[in-house]
Amino acid sequence: MTRKLLIDSDTASDDAVAILMAHRYPDIKVLAVTIVSGNLRVVDGSRNARYTIELCDAQTPVYSGCERPLLREPAHAYWYHGSDGMGGMNYPEPKLRQAQGHAIDALIENIRAHANDVMLVTLGPLTNVAAALLRAPEIASMVSRCVVMGGAANVVGNVTPAAEYNIWCDPEAARIVFRSGMNLEMVGWEVGRGAAALTETDIARVYALDTPYAQFAMDCNVHALELAKNWQGDPGMTLHDPTAMAIALDPTLSKRSGKYRVDVETRGELTRGMTVVDERRIVGTQKFFTDEWAVREPNVLTHHELDAAKWKALLHQCLRKS
Ligand code: RIB
Ligand code: CA
Repeated sequence: MTRKLLIDSDTASDDAVAILMAHRYPDIKVLAVTIVSGNLRVVDGSRNARYTIELCDAQTPVYSGCERPLLREPAHAYWYHGSDGMGGMNYPEPKLRQAQGHAIDALIENIRAHANDVMLVTLGPLTNVAAALLRAPEIASMVSRCVVMGGAANVVGNVTPAAEYNIWCDPEAARIVFRSGMNLEMVGWEVGRGAAALTETDIARVYALDTPYAQFAMDCNVHALELAKNWQGDPGMTLHDPTAMAIALDPTLSKRSGKYRVDVETRGELTRGMTVVDERRIVGTQKFFTDEWAVREPNVLTHHELDAAKWKALLHQCLRKS
């Protein structure tokens, strides 16, 4: 039974590995990749996605989407991912051309065409998805699973002490998605940290697979390795989008999760983009909590931790010779 997948991405180097994983996973058919402004400008994200898809000998359509957040100013991260967004590898221009049409329409049309038989994995800010929901709210009930790489479940953020980049970049879009009624799963940045990070030994093991996929996956992410270790304080290469994709591909990788009320801070001075996770389920137990909370029922399956060994084995499965 083939599982159909849509991917929304700002296609920086870690997104590229996630896109490659989806294309190399046995029972997955990627219907489209939609590009959103985030870490990179859409033009760069599109090129990187099309290069990745071409490396997989696929023809998956890539659609350009929103060039900026709904309200906020763009905040790109070329300093983290390199001038090309791929760790400075400056891969050649792909032959695969940009698909005609806007990402918002591509999301709506594909979800309607495969209602209740399509998963959505988001790897960047949620601007495209929010815009699609505003235009066609009914699609919220047609997506079997929407796995969001984003947020920080009651832990420190990466871009501010309170927030993770994808949510912080466009908090209004994230709030629309989190309140949409879509079947949401959140994989915060913390899931890809610690034991899930690729150590130097892990990286060497991936290179030893000796395939163009393994070479690509590591080459375009080693640029960020130094920042992951020295700026984030992680023990190795943190691949946030691939860990979210891994859970989308094989939910058994999630070791600890829970369904809670989750909403997004959009007015905070210090807490812009914070994913506020009601992990103790106290909202509604006392009158004074209900006024601020528009989310009445638990709305997000929040993944806290993944099985690091199974995650790395799945990565190898996707990168080795088929
Ligand atoms: O905070 C991590 C997220 O920001 C990942 O999606 C990474 O690609 C960047 O977009
Ligand atoms: Ca991303």
